[in-house]
Order: sequence, then C-alpha cells, then structure tokens
Amino acid sequence: MKALIAYFSRRGMNYAPGGMVELKVGNTEVAARLAAELCGGELFEIRKVGDYPFDYRECVEVSKREMAENARPELAAAPPDMSSYDSLILCYPCWCGTMPMPVWTFLEGCGLSGKRILPLCTNEGSGMGRSEADIRRLCPEADVAPGLPVKGSAAKDAGPAIEAWLRSQGVI
Ligand SMILES: Cc1cc2nc3c(=O)[nH]c(=O)nc-3n(C[C@H](O)[C@H](O)[C@H](O)COP(=O)(O)O)c2cc1C
Repeated sequence: MKALIAYFSRRGMNYAPGGMVELKVGNTEVAARLAAELCGGELFEIRKVGDYPFDYRECVEVSKREMAENARPELAAAPPDMSSYDSLILCYPCWCGTMPMPVWTFLEGCGLSGKRILPLCTNEGSGMGRSEADIRRLCPEADVAPGLPVKGSAAKDAGPAIEAWLRSQGVI
C-alpha cells in the first residue's frame, strides 16, 4: 500500500500540562515523521499562506475566527497529486475540537475520492474531537479509517502506538 503522510503542525508557544512551552518542532510534525519512518512514505506539509501567531492565545483567537467564518485559508503549496497513492495518513492537531482550517482547504483540494484516509490527531485531552465526522463530510467518497488520537506533549513516545495502528489498518 503506498501512503502519503500529510501534516499540519505549528511551531511556537503551546499549551502543555504544567504550563506553556515553546515548541521548536510542532507535536504533529514529530508524530508525522514517526509515521513516515514506519511506513516509508513521503511527507507533505500543509501550510497556509502566512503564519499563525507565535503566541498561543492569539492563535486560539485566529483559529476561532477562521472556524466561525468557515474559512478556507489559501495554502502555501498546492496539494500533491494523489493518483499514485492509495492512502493518505492525515496528521493534524486538534484545534477547538476539530482540524485547523488549512486542513479543510487541503482535503477539498486533494482529490480523495476512492482513497483511504487514516486520521492522526494530536491533542491535549479532546481526543479526535469532531475531526473524523468532519473528514467524512468533506470527503464523502473516501474510506475513512478509525483515527489515532496522540497526546501532543508525548508525541515523541508515540512510535509504538502509531506502529500498532498502522499494522491494524494494514498499512505496514
Ligand atoms: C489554536 C489551538 C487550539 C487548540 N484546541 C485544542 C482542543 O480543542 N483540544 C485539545 O485537546 N487540544 C487543543 N489544542 C492543543 C493542541 O491540539 C496540541 O497541543 C497539539 O499537539 C499541537 O500540535 P502542533 O504542535 O503540531 O501544532 C489547541 C492548540 C491550539 C494552538
């Protein structure tokens, strides 16, 4: 099975148990790189044009506004051609209960009809939130596998859980 690993991740100040931390590499990027190593797939970073605020609270405000507006932020790089992949391992942080809006832009622009989507959501307590339902709504012709919630602040230790999940879904 040939898989593309697409991820959205943000560097900067972030909420973690015990207080704020500055992430030089985002939690989701850490998890996405583990998934890519495990299945030997290629990585694609989902980024919007212009960065989200470095400050956590400002970022939450921007994210809430984008959600209220049902925005589709323009992406810095066009989604890749999915015709040579069967599966998309989609990695994103939980933002206010679902995926950051650039992931919505990505899903709508990617051509995922007939493809398998495996969602991996890093979070600090919300699990997958509403994201799996949102992915199914955005990609009604894709086959959406049961997702894997990963505790963001422990992403570097998530290798065994990611490996078990990829095995259970027949990706490796
Ligand atoms: C704007 C914003 C909103 C968030 N909303 C939630 C949330 O609703 N539930 C939750 O469990 N964690 C939430 N978090 C925490 C992130 O999901 C978590 O820290 C994640 O691992 C960050 O991934 P990243 O470092 O790759 O961006 C939020 C973080 C940010 C920046």
